[in-house]
Amino acid sequence: MERFETGAQWRLALDDARSEGKTIGFVPTMGALHEGHRSLIERARRSCDVVAVSIFVNPLQFGDPSDLERYPRPVHHDEALLSAAGCDALFMPSVDEMYPDIKRPLISHEGVGVLGDLFEGVDRPGHFDGVATVVALLFELTGPCRAFFGNKDFQQLAVVRRMVDALGLPVDIVACPTIRDEGGLALSSRNTRLSREGRRHATAFHRALLAGAACFEQGGTPSQVDDAMKQEADAEPALALAYAVVVEAASFLRPALFEEAVEYRLLIAGEVEGVRLIDNAAIDGSDR
Ligand code: PAF
Repeated sequence: MERFETGAQWRLALDDARSEGKTIGFVPTMGALHEGHRSLIERARRSCDVVAVSIFVNPLQFGDPSDLERYPRPVHHDEALLSAAGCDALFMPSVDEMYPDIKRPLISHEGVGVLGDLFEGVDRPGHFDGVATVVALLFELTGPCRAFFGNKDFQQLAVVRRMVDALGLPVDIVACPTIRDEGGLALSSRNTRLSREGRRHATAFHRALLAGAACFEQGGTPSQVDDAMKQEADAEPALALAYAVVVEAASFLRPALFEEAVEYRLLIAGEVEGVRLIDNAAIDGSDR
């Protein structure tokens, strides 16, 4: 695995690979890698000639400075996981390298639209502007590629797709299923901040999604589906619920009634032990 710290070297190496006719599979990350990331890298490995991964903890997408401060950075563990998973090229730029003179997001509502103001955008203002900015810069440096993102961050995925369309970038976005632990907890770098008990409590997110899916299956209306999820989440006292809703998967709008041809998504977020966690599922409860 080759390591790169400057954008110029990264771009040159990937341009060289493309000039030899190779395809690039790109997995952008903030490190603290887990089995969810491994599954993205393996997916990239299966469909592309060169697997390129970035690790950059992006200050622009953190509202709370202490959240940024506490973000885990286990560099040796990450490098070992990447080598074992089949990563060919690792880009680890410094903040100065990525943002020589940027203090705030470059992309805001023109790129991300109202999508950035809903759900996670309400509780974390400016978060998606920061995500869209760094992903646009990383795509710019990486060049034409297939980019692999987990469905776990479903709203992020929608924002990135919209940004790619708005800017006309030569990137094919590939959505990959959420990876869960044996209790159903969606894997996330934030889980390392939970105690063993906390992880057990946090499995309530997945139970709530399954309760929403079961209610839909039994002919429930959108508000009944929301209530079924809330009821299941509220049964876990350690979980402070932020929202549990069914939305139209494309627009993130909340439906009044379900319609045949429309795709829906169940979204949930909240805190366990002071750690904010999110999860989602398709309306049938699956992670596709
Ligand atoms: O999902 C993440 O790890 C980050 O939000 C991303 C996409 C790498 C942008 O910093």
